Amino acid sequence: MEFQNLLITNKGRIQYITINRESKLNALNKDTLAELHTAIAEAFQNPEVGGVIITGAGPKAFVAGADISEFAALDAVGGAQLSRTGHTEVFDLIANGSKPIIAAVNGFALGGGLELAMACHIRIASDNAKMGLPEVTLGLIPGYGGTQRLAQLVGKGKALEMILTADMITAADALQYGLVTYVVNPEELLAKAEEILNKILTRAPLALAAAIRSINAAYADGVNGYETEVAEFGKCFGTKDFKEGVAAFMEKRKAEFKGE
Ligand code: COA
Repeated sequence: MEFQNLLITNKGRIQYITINRESKLNALNKDTLAELHTAIAEAFQNPEVGGVIITGAGPKAFVAGADISEFAALDAVGGAQLSRTGHTEVFDLIANGSKPIIAAVNGFALGGGLELAMACHIRIASDNAKMGLPEVTLGLIPGYGGTQRLAQLVGKGKALEMILTADMITAADALQYGLVTYVVNPEELLAKAEEILNKILTRAPLALAAAIRSINAAYADGVNGYETEVAEFGKCFGTKDFKEGVAAFMEKRKAEFKGE
């Protein structure tokens, strides 16, 4: 499908989804969110795509937030709808996805931009990146999962400080807090993301999906994560990939996983 606000490129089994509204610092308007939903759903469906890297166009921003210009017309009901749709169509879709998604944070990741990065399974940043949830400066709070995922990633104390002060943090701080796992030069950012994702893509695809589901279960209401792990662990034994993985180990060769 043709997109107005995204660039889609494929490199081997990696699909790049680049948010492409550089003149608005890649702010997420409704159209971009709708396109993101379609692009992510298509990436999950496409057997040639093993995993996704999400990044922002240009040198300045990953995503500078939800598009503030679209907020002005909303009332309480509209605001709740915007948030709920965003959760289900994009942010939860990514977080609960069956394929690994890495956020390559190449500049400002603010508000919905940081929430997008936090919905991804892994975050790496360029050393010029700035991250924050500044919604309280607008009379709002984070509405795309930020109050939940930031606390899960950096702990309640730092999340409260970041959200209540609205302060931006540097990439170095983000690394120290565990919000990102690597900080590299801007020129090395995509290569680092590819290095991590290419390694992941040598592993058994169904096991990757099972691992994502099991880890997420720890944070889902009313779900016993240990029970989820038991069930997912058991299901892995029924896959061809498991048989291939064990056979390859015994035969001292590299496993060739088919995701079956
Ligand atoms: N929504 C809509 N437009 C945005 C935007 C957003 N979240 N962030 C940036 N833009 C637009 C600006 O309005 C400007 O558009 P214009 O050239 O048509 O006026 C353009 O992107 C460039 O931004 P500008 O503010 O001129 O760049 P800057 O380098 O001076 O500042 C930021 C960069 C990121 C500090 C600043 O843009 C900012 O604070 N953005 C909003 C961040 C935010 O509050 N996000 C949370 C939203 S919930």
